[in-house]
Amino acid sequence: MTPSAGPGDRSPRTFVDANRVWVDSRLRHAVGTRAEGPELARLGARGEVCVEIGTGRRGLGARVAVEQLGARRVTAVDLHPASVDSARRSLGDLAARPGVEVDVLVADATALPLPDACADLLLSFHALHHVEDWRAALAEAARVVRPQGRLALTEMTSRVVDAPWLRAVSRHPEHRFSGDELLAAVAEAGFDVRPGRTRRRAGDRLVQAVAVRTGA
Ligand SMILES: C[S@@+](CC[C@H](N)C(=O)[O-])C[C@H]1O[C@@H](n2cnc3c(N)ncnc32)[C@H](O)[C@@H]1O
Repeated sequence: MTPSAGPGDRSPRTFVDANRVWVDSRLRHAVGTRAEGPELARLGARGEVCVEIGTGRRGLGARVAVEQLGARRVTAVDLHPASVDSARRSLGDLAARPGVEVDVLVADATALPLPDACADLLLSFHALHHVEDWRAALAEAARVVRPQGRLALTEMTSRVVDAPWLRAVSRHPEHRFSGDELLAAVAEAGFDVRPGRTRRRAGDRLVQAVAVRTGA
């Protein structure tokens, strides 16, 4: 088996391709659509105009946005062109629905090719912990989400990402966030984080949150 590394990826190589085994799998997609998506809906994620960062090969968040969160127009981005091509194919059925528009673009979550305050909802399913400067991605989320719009996150914390067993099979930037650090940074970026809109599971290894963009 050859070591795996994505384009432009400077993190250490691994000898198991976790993307193939888990991230791109049908099971992962089912967890996202059947457990994580409904939980974000329960926490208050909703919006007609939605942006998703780190959509992955199956376009998971874009599908959740349309099928569960009321989105009619979705811009889903990913850093990797191969994932974007694949997500476009996976989301073909959604894009063909009347009244639904889905664009999938190659873009960096820290520099979205979108105007200020254009989105009702920004979604991230396990994307932030892959972004080297994840605080810059939160600042970018605050720029594109309109006042009173929402940021909906599902994330693994450093308790998972920095665990030696995961580092042995998957590539991530160094020094990821705890649940508290993530939620504090969401608030610092300009979102209102309320306890009733967050959920932590598995000993704070998994965090879900829906935060509201401050401002009138
Ligand atoms: C763990 S995968 C999650 C995929 C999918 N959202 C899911 O939950 O199954 C992280 C995704 O984020 C993308 N990604 C990493 N850094 C990014 C960045 N700076 N901007 C946009 N996407 C990024 C990766 O290419 C990958 O598709």
